[in-house]
Amino acid sequence: MQIDFRIAPAAQWRTDALLVLRFEDDPATPAWLAEAAPWAASSRALADFRAKPRTTAVAYPPDADAPVARVVAAGLGKRAALDLETLRLAVAQAVRACRDLKVASVGLALEPVPALPDAGAAGDAGAADAEAVAHTLEEAVTAALLGLYRFETFKSAPENGMDAPGGGDGPDAPEALQVLCTAEPGPAARAAVARAEAAAAGVYLARDLVNTPANVATPSFLAETAETLGREHGFKVRVIEADEAEGMGMGCFAAVFQGSPEPAKLIVIDAAPKGAERERPLVFVGKGVTFDTGGISIKPSAKMDEMKGDMAGAAAVLGFFEALGRLGAPRRVVGILPCTENMPGGAATRPGDVVTSYAGKTVEIVNTDAEGRLLLCDALTFAAEFDPLAVVDLATLTGACLVALGTDVAAVFSANDLLAESIAELGARVGDLYWRMPLWDRYFESLKSDVADMKNVGPREGGAVNAALFLKQFAPASAPWAHLDIAGPAFATTATALTAKGGTGFGVRTLLALVTAWEGAR
Ligand code: BES
Ligand code: MN
Ligand code: ZN
Repeated sequence: MQIDFRIAPAAQWRTDALLVLRFEDDPATPAWLAEAAPWAASSRALADFRAKPRTTAVAYPPDADAPVARVVAAGLGKRAALDLETLRLAVAQAVRACRDLKVASVGLALEPVPALPDAGAAGDAGAADAEAVAHTLEEAVTAALLGLYRFETFKSAPENGMDAPGGGDGPDAPEALQVLCTAEPGPAARAAVARAEAAAAGVYLARDLVNTPANVATPSFLAETAETLGREHGFKVRVIEADEAEGMGMGCFAAVFQGSPEPAKLIVIDAAPKGAERERPLVFVGKGVTFDTGGISIKPSAKMDEMKGDMAGAAAVLGFFEALGRLGAPRRVVGILPCTENMPGGAATRPGDVVTSYAGKTVEIVNTDAEGRLLLCDALTFAAEFDPLAVVDLATLTGACLVALGTDVAAVFSANDLLAESIAELGARVGDLYWRMPLWDRYFESLKSDVADMKNVGPREGGAVNAALFLKQFAPASAPWAHLDIAGPAFATTATALTAKGGTGFGVRTLLALVTAWEGAR
């Protein structure tokens, strides 16, 4: 979708659909609406609209060639309860209504709602105002793009195409989003739109990768994706082949990939602005299990198809790099993606096998379905070689995390309060929800093995904590580390206005916010 600014007096705004966000308890409409669509004041559809969250209404001018061809109103609920997520959902709902109506262009006023209290920035009043307006705009534009996401790569004809029953004669999805302003919007607003487009492109990539079936989205496919990102954005990309990783001593990673005929890859992406190639990086590690059968400890058939999404951590890191490349890296960031299938082939690891990790510690693999921690532990040891400022891993690691927190919330584990709290706070702002979970060493007792330094599973109780504690044994000694268990929110089995069913792109915006905040803090 093409996004641009249109600067004109509101009476001259021209669009197929003008978005209007309304409060349930505040019937006042913005001044620009009266100028852009004077007929809206007497619209009965708008008068009847109650503006409850997740509802929309459409109103048409009496005159067929009015410059604003329709108003699409979306409900924000009660004014006092307004938050960024409600704003995002309302905008996404409205653009989806536009798509259903087959409109070609959508108009979004620069100030879709009065700037939100939590959208503001520090500084003097005037600057803070412009910042707050820009941030609200960024969220609105991001939501418009995310709401229009569809995965149609494997459909031989578009579902909602022009030939579909009931289809009108407009495009399948809006082709243009115009940000309507009465004066030059200023650099903050222009930068906000660029950030929104970059973030959405990153989320789109992560969603596509998760949705792409495992017979296509193989470790090689992820490596090619990384190489394409490298070429497009000027990142250094190194792909370590399976035998090389094994030769380096990554026995835990090898224990996972040896059961699959599909070549495993350890992907390393290194992005830095000119002159900063040697600064200490932030390192993001993503679990890239392109399909998790469980291995010899094979999973039951029900819902096993969802395990094509077991590379959502790697997908989030790749999506993050897509966004970063579009914006230009503000600092050095390294991505480490151990990618493999987990299959029960003839050469697969047997339960009870003991292997030596890259760190030199021995691990008894009691359950081959606890494979994520095996490839991550070697990747974490490898991460330390980059002398990182901080390491954050993202992984669809445990079903237990879903039991603990439900489908919508990821767990954050870290011994570092600032890192854990920053991630939870930044995530909440961008719509990625986190809840901190404990990393108490007392549970490590249950990971002790009779024959090796540790075993890869503990009891069912506290499963997500046990997995995090296993990883903690391999976390870098000289940098803060956080583990994000995204097993719940990475994959949606019910759609919202912002996320279609399937891959959600969870984590992409968190990482982007973290890098930005880190840069601001130094
Ligand atoms: N990929 C799964 C975790 C998962 C489950 C992600 C459901 C998304 C949805 C992981 O590799 C796994 O199988 N974990 C086991 C660990 C157990 C054997 C200790 C699990 O959670 O059952
Ligand atoms: Mn598993
Ligand atoms: Zn897994």
